[in-house]
Amino acid sequence: MIELLNVSKVFGEERAVDGISLTVASGELCVLVGTSGCGKSTTLRMINRLIEHSGGQILIDGHQIRSFNAQVLRRRIGYAIQSTGLFPHWTVARNIGLVPRLLKWAPARVEARVTELMELLGLEPALFADRMPAQLSGGQAQRVGVARALAADPDILLMDEPFGALDPITRETLQDELLRLQSRLRKTIVFVTHDMDEALKLADRIVVMQRGRIVQQGSPQALLRDPADDFVESLLGGPDRGLKQAALTPVSALMQAQDQDLPMGSAASPSVRVDDSLRLALSLMLWHRRERLTVIDHTGRPIGTLSLHDLLGAPQ
Ligand SMILES: Nc1ncnc2c1ncn2[C@@H]1O[C@H](COP(=O)(O)OP(=O)(O)OP(=O)(O)O)[C@@H](O)[C@H]1O
Ligand SMILES: [Mg+2]
Repeated sequence: MIELLNVSKVFGEERAVDGISLTVASGELCVLVGTSGCGKSTTLRMINRLIEHSGGQILIDGHQIRSFNAQVLRRRIGYAIQSTGLFPHWTVARNIGLVPRLLKWAPARVEARVTELMELLGLEPALFADRMPAQLSGGQAQRVGVARALAADPDILLMDEPFGALDPITRETLQDELLRLQSRLRKTIVFVTHDMDEALKLADRIVVMQRGRIVQQGSPQALLRDPADDFVESLLGGPDRGLKQAALTPVSALMQAQDQDLPMGSAASPSVRVDDSLRLALSLMLWHRRERLTVIDHTGRPIGTLSLHDLLGAPQ
């Protein structure tokens, strides 16, 4: 859906982006990660032509982005940024309805869409529709920013640290919401962050950038298993990698399934859900000082066990 072929951006003397090639498939959530100044935002902004690329080609659905009118292109692509970019003198509802109004939707349709999005993002319309951005918390404002980016139902969503500057709990909530939305909406998303944990949690594919170039790309598991160099390894947290990998692997990968009619762990035996992560399982073992957990399904029915010994096995 999005193709970058040997794309560069030169600002004066500086090559902010230096010949990167990248394909983002339809429905994929691709995360650009790297240290400050490596060219992530520039790359993102070239895709919706907020910045014009200096070299190479950028294609959307096989068409050169320069063949589209820049404004039409921008209305087709949702864009959410850390500072939200909300208009301060417009209500929340008016901010969210911006692109649909530009696209000349009928007012009743805009209103219905705004209400739908506010509900989707957990912003009660009766409470928030008429507020001004200054009357929102940071997390609420970022939800409004994401709602606005989704308003005209774009196939492509560009997100530049949309959850930056939030406390870890709110941030995690918004990440979970994005994953939930994505499992329903299947947008093509390019998401920028400098937080590797956020990248590992959200990405179908991680693209690691350094000084305007791509140093490695792959699935979170592939990067953890085989970082290309010391830089990628240090971004991945060095010796913390074991826990990060365990966080990506579900209990179901290593548990011992047991026959339903076998007696299962006692009431006192700590349990873990089959779709919880191995990281959580390890934490429960440490906390309860137990080498074995009862694995339960989503109804709470015991379906197997997970031992410390199982944890040391290789994930399938
Ligand atoms: N409009 C501009 N004019 C000149 N230089 C720019 C411009 N925009 C970005 N740059 C430079 O290009 C480089 C890449 O910037 P970019 O904003 O893409 O980095 P980033 O990876 O998004 O960093 P951060 O994590 O800090 O947001 C930086 O060195 C920056 O100073
Ligand atoms: Mg940036």
